[in-house]
Amino acid sequence: MIIKALVENTSGSEEFKSEHGLCLYIETLNHKFLFDLGASSLFAENAKKLGVDISEVDLVVISHGHDDHGGGLKTFLNVNSKAKIYVNRQAFAKHYANRPGGKKANIGLDESLVQSGRFIFAGEHLIIDEELELFSNIKGKKLIPSGNQDLLMESGGLLVQDDFSHEQNLIISEGGKTLLIAGCAHNGIVNIIDHMIEIKHSPPHYVIGGFHLYNRSADKYEDPVLINLIGLYLKDTGSFCYTCHCTGIEPYQRLKEIMKEKIKYLSTGSRLKILS
Ligand SMILES: [Fe+2]
Ligand SMILES: [Fe+2]
Repeated sequence: MIIKALVENTSGSEEFKSEHGLCLYIETLNHKFLFDLGASSLFAENAKKLGVDISEVDLVVISHGHDDHGGGLKTFLNVNSKAKIYVNRQAFAKHYANRPGGKKANIGLDESLVQSGRFIFAGEHLIIDEELELFSNIKGKKLIPSGNQDLLMESGGLLVQDDFSHEQNLIISEGGKTLLIAGCAHNGIVNIIDHMIEIKHSPPHYVIGGFHLYNRSADKYEDPVLINLIGLYLKDTGSFCYTCHCTGIEPYQRLKEIMKEKIKYLSTGSRLKILS
């Protein structure tokens, strides 16, 4: 499997621009697909530089209804005329973030795009085929990022704390091994892995994703105690982790101290070859 990081918060070289967002290109035996689309059309720019033809992409997964993961949807729909886009059925609900000075920023997806008819609305568990499987409805409440408190959703005409029911995660299976991809892990990476263990009866061999240990609204990192506990949990799973996006560099360095060679940072422009 080949993975190319088209967009994440940092860049590995001057050749690639970066932005607060996530977009991964993944080539498996059966698919050429994208996991998330970043915050803008930057993913398409970087795709060209990495030799990825967006018009050839056959499927897209959007991890959740935030614009740093689905901000590139309009550009994608203009460039690609065939891929179905898998979102959770709650992904187009209205989502907001607290910003300094008591302001609320609209961070939801562009609802007008639903008319395109290109979306597949997933529920709690969707097996796409023998390689790809989506799951949401994470029940666990362990080691949840405190940064979630600044994220809101509209419910019954009121703004309430986001429950992240719109967040879905992807399992890729290849050659008897599994890769778990989480966009932001708002539900807590520990709870997401616990849920995957319930489905697959073992932890993932690999994990890729943001762990939401950086709170953009408050420009703060999570408490070191929480980060340490997450690091110890991840180390215990034996999974190899590539983290990026909302993990933040400082929390990554703390995780690295605990997990050593079992964790690496995945920056824009990186290429990986894992599993088969
Ligand atoms: Fe994010
Ligand atoms: Fe998010």
